[in-house]
Amino acid sequence: MTATSPPPPQHDRVLIVDFGSQVTQLIARRVREAGVYCEVHPYNRADKAFLQAFAPKAVILSGGPASVGDAGAPLADSEIFAMGVPVLGICYGQMCMVHQLGGAADSVGDREFGRARMQLTAASPLFEGLAQAGGGEEVWMSHGDRVTRAPDGFEVVGASPGAPFAAIADEARQFYGLMFHPEVAHTPNGAKMIGNFVRRIAGCAGDWTMGAYRDEAIAAIRAQVGDDGRVICGLSGGVDSAVAAVLIHEAIGERLTCVFVDHGMMRLGEAEQVVGLFRDHYNIPLIAMDESDRFLSALAGVSEPEQKRKIIGKLFIDVFEQQAGAIEGAGFLAQGTLYPDVIESVSFDGGPSVTIKSHHNVGGLPERMNLTLVEPLRSLFKDEVRALGRQLGLPEAFVGRHPFPGPGLAIRCPGDITRDKLDSLRQADAIYLEEIRAAGLYDAIWQAFAVLLPVKTVGVMGDGRTYENVCALRAVTSVDGMTADFFPFPWEVLGRAATRIVNEVNGVNRVVYDVTSKPPGTIEWE
Ligand code: XMP
Repeated sequence: MTATSPPPPQHDRVLIVDFGSQVTQLIARRVREAGVYCEVHPYNRADKAFLQAFAPKAVILSGGPASVGDAGAPLADSEIFAMGVPVLGICYGQMCMVHQLGGAADSVGDREFGRARMQLTAASPLFEGLAQAGGGEEVWMSHGDRVTRAPDGFEVVGASPGAPFAAIADEARQFYGLMFHPEVAHTPNGAKMIGNFVRRIAGCAGDWTMGAYRDEAIAAIRAQVGDDGRVICGLSGGVDSAVAAVLIHEAIGERLTCVFVDHGMMRLGEAEQVVGLFRDHYNIPLIAMDESDRFLSALAGVSEPEQKRKIIGKLFIDVFEQQAGAIEGAGFLAQGTLYPDVIESVSFDGGPSVTIKSHHNVGGLPERMNLTLVEPLRSLFKDEVRALGRQLGLPEAFVGRHPFPGPGLAIRCPGDITRDKLDSLRQADAIYLEEIRAAGLYDAIWQAFAVLLPVKTVGVMGDGRTYENVCALRAVTSVDGMTADFFPFPWEVLGRAATRIVNEVNGVNRVVYDVTSKPPGTIEWE
């Protein structure tokens, strides 16, 4: 798969050249938040032919782990500086630009990391609407090298004690370089700076909205599927497949059939909700199957996490293929692939990445069944998918839901899986989410769930001794699931959830809270 999604021709496009920063996706999100369409591409793919075809209205060079003085350090194609479009270099991107345009950047020995105060030393459209020249801006630094001489034509527009070239600008060529990271939340006015760059400096129209995208996507689906093509869409209960299904249904109506496989490891009431929404509310043709017996017998006695994931993934494809094969004339398979999946499938330098967990997906199915993929969300971030779902009138309870993994509760039940354990876990999870909602915290949390541990501890209830399982509660904040922090609950919310779980759920007599961030932990326990 290439990282190129068809750029919507109606919109101005910004190109983000990736040098491998951990936060390149955040640059893209900030640009999109400014109402401008953008794509991320690895630096070594952004060559002259690509640049000419992509025709960006502006280019942003990301940060990255390399040092510009190193032999073989990644560089930007020189065409980027010759196209006559505005360029913004961030951190390593700034160093790269300075180096390639005749300035100098050097290693300073110590890394500068963290908050810094930058003085604005000259007016620049990049800082329009922020502090005046002479005023200060809080910025987030994270670099080992720094600029020591700006190329001809550049002036310093911002300086901090550790970075005399914190912000440089060549207003005539519209080239800008920032030593700090405007894309992270720790630079409070960073989003405004990126907005200034793409809107004021590059003159992008700001017409990338989900209202407009809805109509474009519907037209694109109709064009791809044709007048009599039929589409199958697998529903998982999650936001992405739900939004994809409703969008496709708007485009081609009854020629969409949804398939929902209940593998027996859904949350409390989830299978009924999916059927109620799609079949009853939207009137979308839906094949719903309860395959829990088949999945649970295949998983009996299996406790190794990767083995569980593989069994579920394979069986899911078998079941899906059987059902989908019975839908006459279907030539297309819809998938809720999102833009982060597209970016992550290509590492910034083409190198291999380590498999931490085998993710559950239907990869391989399109080839096996000779189906063409329809991926209407392929250029969207999760928050854009949610906005699109709201545009399409999907209920908030669906659109705003936390992500839920394909293998479901199987990976929240370490050790072997039984119906009894799943029942206890479902109840505990429902109580936990109910308490989070009651406290008004659901939307402040990226993902929250219960885990049933295969560990028994001694407790006392009434006058009797108990010897039952431990339930762990997890809640994290995150931007994209790649990194995460545990959610700092008020104790009383955790206390209420714990009391109710121990009182109401059979087989649980102790509750603990997981305070591990990712990394080094992962969000799910398996
Ligand atoms: P981890 O546990 O890897 O999870 O930190 C990151 C995010 O991915 C979700 N997740 C999955 N989603 N299929 C999915 O669709 C999977 O197999 C899968 N495994 C983990 C997880 O819930 C979290 O949001």
